[in-house]
Amino acid sequence: MSVKPQDLNWETLGFGYINTGKSFRAYYKDGKWDGGQVVEANTITISEASPAVHLGQQCFEGLKAYRTKDGSVNLFRVDENAKRLARSADQVMLPPYPEDAFVEAVKEIVRANEEWIPPYGTGATLYIRPFLIGVGDIVGVSPASEALFGIYVTPVGAYFKGGLQPAPFMVSEYDRAAPRGTGSAKVGGNYASSFKAGKEAQVHNFADSIFLDPATHTKIEEVGAANFFAITEDDVFVTPKSPSILPSITKYSLLHLAEHVLGLETFEGDVFIDQLDHYKEAGAMGTAAVITPIGSITQGDKKHVFYSETEVGPLTRALYDELTGIQFGEKEGPEGWIQ
Ligand code: COI
Repeated sequence: MSVKPQDLNWETLGFGYINTGKSFRAYYKDGKWDGGQVVEANTITISEASPAVHLGQQCFEGLKAYRTKDGSVNLFRVDENAKRLARSADQVMLPPYPEDAFVEAVKEIVRANEEWIPPYGTGATLYIRPFLIGVGDIVGVSPASEALFGIYVTPVGAYFKGGLQPAPFMVSEYDRAAPRGTGSAKVGGNYASSFKAGKEAQVHNFADSIFLDPATHTKIEEVGAANFFAITEDDVFVTPKSPSILPSITKYSLLHLAEHVLGLETFEGDVFIDQLDHYKEAGAMGTAAVITPIGSITQGDKKHVFYSETEVGPLTRALYDELTGIQFGEKEGPEGWIQ
C-alpha cells in the first residue's frame, strides 16, 4: 500500500481503485460459511479451474459509506444490498452469503478502514464492493461447491466526470442482457457485455451508452451501468420496468422520494426511444452514478436535448438534494434507510 489517506485530495478524487490495505474474506466449504475475517491483503488465491474465472459464476454489490457533518458514518439501505446479492447468487447457483452476516461484514470492513472515509463536504464517499465467486476445481459446466465472499473498499469521487453536470449519451447498437437471462442479477457478464458499447460511446465523445430493450429495441432500459429516469412535461417521474435491468436500490429510493417528498406522480413502465419529446428532464441513477443528469441522447443522426446540455434541471436537482441529503445525514429519511 503506497498511497495514504493524508496524501489524497478528496475534492478531486475520481472513481478509481486505491488499495486501503484491509479487506474482508469468508469461505464456503462443505456446505457452510466460515465466520469471515478482515485480512491485510488486496489479492486472492484461487484454483485456476474456478468457475468464476471460466464460467462467470460470480456476482457482486456496490454501496457507499457517507461521512456526516458530526463525523459519524452512514450506510444507506445496506440490508437491500444484502438481499440483492442473495438473489443474484441464486440466479447463478452460488451459496448465498447470509444477509445479517453481510451487513455485519460491511460494518466491520468500514470500521477497519475508517481513516479512508472521505470528510464531510467533499462530496467523496467510501465505495464498498462486496463480491461472491465460485471457486474450486471445476472443468465441466457446473456450479462450484466452494465459494469466496469478499469485500474491498476504496474512496471515490464522481463516477461520471463532473458529477452533477449534464452529460451526453448515445444509444448502443449492442444488447447488454437478455430478458430471461441474467439481466436483473448483478453479475459480471452484464457489465463485460457493456464494455464495447461504452468504449464506442467514449470514442465518439459521449459519457456512456444507453441500452434499448433486447426484444424490440424500441424502449430505453439502462444507461451504461446505471438505471434511467425521465420527467414528463407534466411532472411524472418515469423509469423503465423490464426483466433485463438491474433492480437499482437508488431507483427504488428515488421512486419513493419523488412520490412522498416531492409529491410527483411516478410510473415504472415503457420509455420509448422515439418519444423523448415527452420528457423535459432525464438522468442516470445508481450507487456509483448517484444522479447524473442526461443532457442529450443521440441515436444515429438524431439528437434529443432534454432540459439543457449545461444546466441541471430543477426536478433532477431536487431529487439529488433529497437523496444525498439523506445519505450524508442532512435530512431525515424513511425509517431504516440509514444505519
Ligand atoms: C454501482 O452503481 O455500484 C455499480 O455497481 C455500477 C458499476 C460501478 C459497476
